[in-house]
Amino acid sequence: MNYITVDRVVFSYRRNETLFDGLSVAFSLGEQVAIIGRNGSGKTTLVKLIAGMLRPQRGRILINNETITRKSIAEIATQVGFVFQNPNFMLFTNSVEKELALSLQHFKLSKQEVKERIDETLAFFDLTNYRLTNPRTLSRGEKQKVALATVLIQDPKAIILDEPFSGIDMSQKLMILQYIQKLKQQDKLIILITHSLDLLLTACTKIVALQNGQIAYDLPLKEFFADLTHLLKIGLEPTDYLSFITFLRKKGLQKDAIEKEEIIAFLLECALK
Ligand SMILES: Nc1ncnc2c1ncn2[C@@H]1O[C@H](COP(=O)(O)OP(=O)(O)OP(=O)(O)O)[C@@H](O)[C@H]1O
Ligand SMILES: [Mg+2]
Repeated sequence: MNYITVDRVVFSYRRNETLFDGLSVAFSLGEQVAIIGRNGSGKTTLVKLIAGMLRPQRGRILINNETITRKSIAEIATQVGFVFQNPNFMLFTNSVEKELALSLQHFKLSKQEVKERIDETLAFFDLTNYRLTNPRTLSRGEKQKVALATVLIQDPKAIILDEPFSGIDMSQKLMILQYIQKLKQQDKLIILITHSLDLLLTACTKIVALQNGQIAYDLPLKEFFADLTHLLKIGLEPTDYLSFITFLRKKGLQKDAIEKEEIIAFLLECALK
């Protein structure tokens, strides 16, 4: 069943310049979806509409079968969490613990419940030792992790991450990816906007491509990566890694064998033939 439905949405920032002219797309729980597209194709606008930060001029957005037209951003946030590209926009206090407590202020929880949720969240994100640390003193990757924690402590069924990998180094990208992987086990809907196409191979199960304010296609990951012209169609260039994987597929690598270990095993098998 769809958890988020975008139904014939019309949206423009300026008069006479329509960005979305009847855009429809749907997302279900348990899916890990990547939204891709060139700069300016409308990715951020689409997720801001879902999070209630922008409102459509026509059409509807439904979360769990209810229209969000009259819901506030804070109400929507309990169902669909939003992690901004720049974590500095999400951090307001002088300790990680206070950041997490702030996220729970709209919930009617006892002091004990608040403490338990904070403890659990700190443990999940390996942040227990940072409880009293000022988030501003953390690295960009760690800040991104705290921002993600402030969203997840509210236990939304869906999480949107807009470019969570930008401005951080590879080891921290992998760390964030590791938490996204951990979330996969919780049957949440994860919507990830990223230009890091290589990371999609392990992070996502479905690709939604935007072009000129329209859904160019909506495909399972396997189908998408079976043919790299899917990338070219929306004006994106395949990376060396993706070209390499496609080459291996043509040599007989299984379509779903995209984990690093499986690639190494396949290469060894070819070498030993
Ligand atoms: N606040 C705004 N006011 C006016 N136009 C805007 C505003 N924000 C975005 N736009 C325009 O809307 C279009 C879609 O922008 P959007 O930010 O949604 O694209 P995007 O796919 O997220 O791009 P990027 O990959 O660069 O983040 C672009 O043409 C952009 O210039
Ligand atoms: Mg954007």
